[in-house]
Amino acid sequence: MIPFQSLVQTYETPLYVYDFDAMKEQFETLKEAFRGRKSILAYAVKANSNLSVIKHFASLGAGADCVSIGEVRRALMAGIPAYKVIFSGVGKRDDEIREAISSDILYINVESEAELGRVEMIAKELNTKARISIRVNPNIDPQTHPYISTGLHDNKFGVEIDAAKRMYIRSKNSDSLDAVGIHFHIGSQLTQLEPIYEAAVIVADLMRSLSAIDIDLKFFDIGGGLGVRYDDEITITPYDYAQAILGAIKGLDVTIICEPGRFLTANAGYFLTKVLYEKKNGQKRFVVVDGAMNDLIRPSLYNAYHRIEALDKSGEASLADVVGPVCESGDFLAKEYPLPMLEHNDVLVVHSAGAYGFGMGSNYNTRGRSAEVAYQDGTARLIRARESFDDLIALEREYL
Ligand code: LLP
Repeated sequence: MIPFQSLVQTYETPLYVYDFDAMKEQFETLKEAFRGRKSILAYAVKANSNLSVIKHFASLGAGADCVSIGEVRRALMAGIPAYKVIFSGVGKRDDEIREAISSDILYINVESEAELGRVEMIAKELNTKARISIRVNPNIDPQTHPYISTGLHDNKFGVEIDAAKRMYIRSKNSDSLDAVGIHFHIGSQLTQLEPIYEAAVIVADLMRSLSAIDIDLKFFDIGGGLGVRYDDEITITPYDYAQAILGAIKGLDVTIICEPGRFLTANAGYFLTKVLYEKKNGQKRFVVVDGAMNDLIRPSLYNAYHRIEALDKSGEASLADVVGPVCESGDFLAKEYPLPMLEHNDVLVVHSAGAYGFGMGSNYNTRGRSAEVAYQDGTARLIRARESFDDLIALEREYL
């Protein structure tokens, strides 16, 4: 049990707390599911990019899936070996491509024909060969929230099969490109196995047809997306997930790369916030807390459900909106949520906040970002200090 009350006393609120032991358990469960096959779990750094979190996964043998050169730098700084770092994203700048090639990462995941041209040109300038994979958009509906669905032609990600083929042929004929992998990622918070399997079959078939024309790829990158339980969702088990992938790639001698983010961190993270006031507008009950949408935007942005626990409180529950101090009606952590009567300084624990929580935070309303604490082997340590007002204005000029 994590001693939330004492953590609040030491570090104050709003506060993120990450259970490093739970992260490790998730990592090992997923790794185990691919046992017997060559595989790399490339942690999707965007889910929670605190350097200590990445370092924790590095110590377990993880690679990293990065979506900006900033994330690549974080991964390398935290001790992920360059040969396990992948750089994806639809809009890479030249300087980012240059640095990724120079850092000798595993591969750049190319998402358009135009981008392939830039990578080729930059590799040529650098007098080297850039290792690449191509992100294929298999046009599969992943049946998740539209904002986190990525595998349909309507989405901006990846390229169609025919374009991918052309790009592999172009790479084969280039002195500056070395195509080593193939990639797909159809969406996040996936709870249906079928779309993943269908996408894997499409991409594996493409891989076989490339092999027939002497283009042999080593890495089969299945992206991330494995859903977790926020409420009462029925999720895909790591075993079933791995079996589906293995079924799709039957006969192919590849290293599987998986890019889990949420699966590794979501349920290991807690967002702690204190009650400021209770208030009523007519019949409507509001619990006003010191955490807000700038700390945890998922409820506002996706209408996402996060379980909320009133720490050490009991009593009859009634429905309330849990709202923050930010000047937006969309600033809520929960709507119509059953909670006992609360008092000033009572602590609420918002569950499943370890993925896309802190990382999607902002300084809106000149609010400093929360502190972050790691809890491991029964002890807590600060892994990011609370942002001060001075931190917030440090880069501004001409205000005197
Ligand atoms: N690989 C790629 C190429 C991705 O785009 C993503 C997530 C992942 C891996 C990791 O996906 P995961 O295993 O975490 O599902 N902010 C949203 C989620 C956005 C996901 C973006 N891409 C949320 O809070 O639900």
